[in-house]
Amino acid sequence: MVNALRGMKDTISPESEIYSYVIETCTRIAKHYGFSLIETPILEETALFKRSVGESSDIVGKEMYQFIDKGGNDVCLRPEGTAGVVRAFIGQKYDKAGGIRRFFYHGPMFRYERPQKGRLRQFHQFGAETFGEASVDEDATIIIMLGHMFKALGIGYTLEINSLGCPTCMPSYRTQLVSFLSALDGLCEDCERRKQTNPIRVLDCKNDTCKSLLVGAPILLEQLCESCATDFNRLKALLQHAGVAYSINTKLVRGLDYYSKTAFEFVSSDIGAQSAIAGGGRYDRLVEFLDGKPTPGVGFAMGIERLMELVKMPQMKREGYYIGALCEEAQETVFDLVIEKRKNARVLTSYDVKSLKNHLKQADKNDVTFCVCIGEDELAGHTVWIKNLETKEEMLQSIDAFKE
Ligand code: HAM
Repeated sequence: MVNALRGMKDTISPESEIYSYVIETCTRIAKHYGFSLIETPILEETALFKRSVGESSDIVGKEMYQFIDKGGNDVCLRPEGTAGVVRAFIGQKYDKAGGIRRFFYHGPMFRYERPQKGRLRQFHQFGAETFGEASVDEDATIIIMLGHMFKALGIGYTLEINSLGCPTCMPSYRTQLVSFLSALDGLCEDCERRKQTNPIRVLDCKNDTCKSLLVGAPILLEQLCESCATDFNRLKALLQHAGVAYSINTKLVRGLDYYSKTAFEFVSSDIGAQSAIAGGGRYDRLVEFLDGKPTPGVGFAMGIERLMELVKMPQMKREGYYIGALCEEAQETVFDLVIEKRKNARVLTSYDVKSLKNHLKQADKNDVTFCVCIGEDELAGHTVWIKNLETKEEMLQSIDAFKE
């Protein structure tokens, strides 16, 4: 027997019903906010992620499904969705055209991580990206939209926000942080490496020793330039006004290198250690990093598998018809009727002749509203027998009327 690869899984009914429900709910809400669907390839040039997510990030440094294809190209399975969307945005010359564009997407992402509960090697994200809008009101709107999605899905959360500054305030902070870090002894191996490659990432190390060593680390939020401070204050005010509760986490730096200014994460306390259910932020320099005309950007992605653990599904509603034959002579009529009726409705059937009791059982199992049966009497009268499984009402109807 061949099994699915470690960290990869199949999503089959009834679980897939939850998957569809998450996608449908988030799609509906994203459209209300003016986002439209974008589909980008799963396989991309490795350089795309090196130049966006960053070579020093764990995602690119350790977790990529990377290989040389038959044409000698260095390619990888996308570890996240933003970089591909930015590539497509530039490819369409939307950066040169100007204006504001909003996209949403969903699909599989791949990271060669150590699998555990809530952490897969192939997982699915629903994400959204806005281009061309520099106002922090868009950051707030995106966070409010996420809150709206979680509410619709019946998911509780806490929200953490931070600002990662901009090229005006980040470099001097970075210098301060590096000098603070270089005086420390006993950081973990990863942090020793990050100290050289990406010192900001040391701030969110989960290692307890590192955490205690970092207690007195300089705080970027206290040193933001005027523009970043104004934006962060407005973000807080807008969230407060919209009734979205948040806490400030000065050590929230995100695992991808493209962020500036707003960074945020939605966390659930009900799914164990892998508690981040969504994350995102502003990336005003990413379009430029990928050779586009400088264009501000902001977005988020959520982990669908993590959400699926938390979703409160609405009560399943009965829908459509089950049609069955009570005798061999009725089988052909049933077959034709099922095809006809499926043009407008959900119709289930069994190809076998069964007793009325068995057909009713099947109909009930399939959550239909009506069980429809045809036997000798119905054939003779050119009728169908119908039972409404909600009201328990039974009736005979002519086949022609039923077809309509
Ligand atoms: P991210 O924080 O790396 O951000 O991933 C977003 C979400 O994907 C996480 O909050 C988590 O729910 C889910 N996730 C990540 N890794 C795994 C995994 N191994 N197994 C299961 N779920 C996982 C991004 O990917 C950015 N592209 C988000 C973004 C969009 N920022 C701006 N625009």
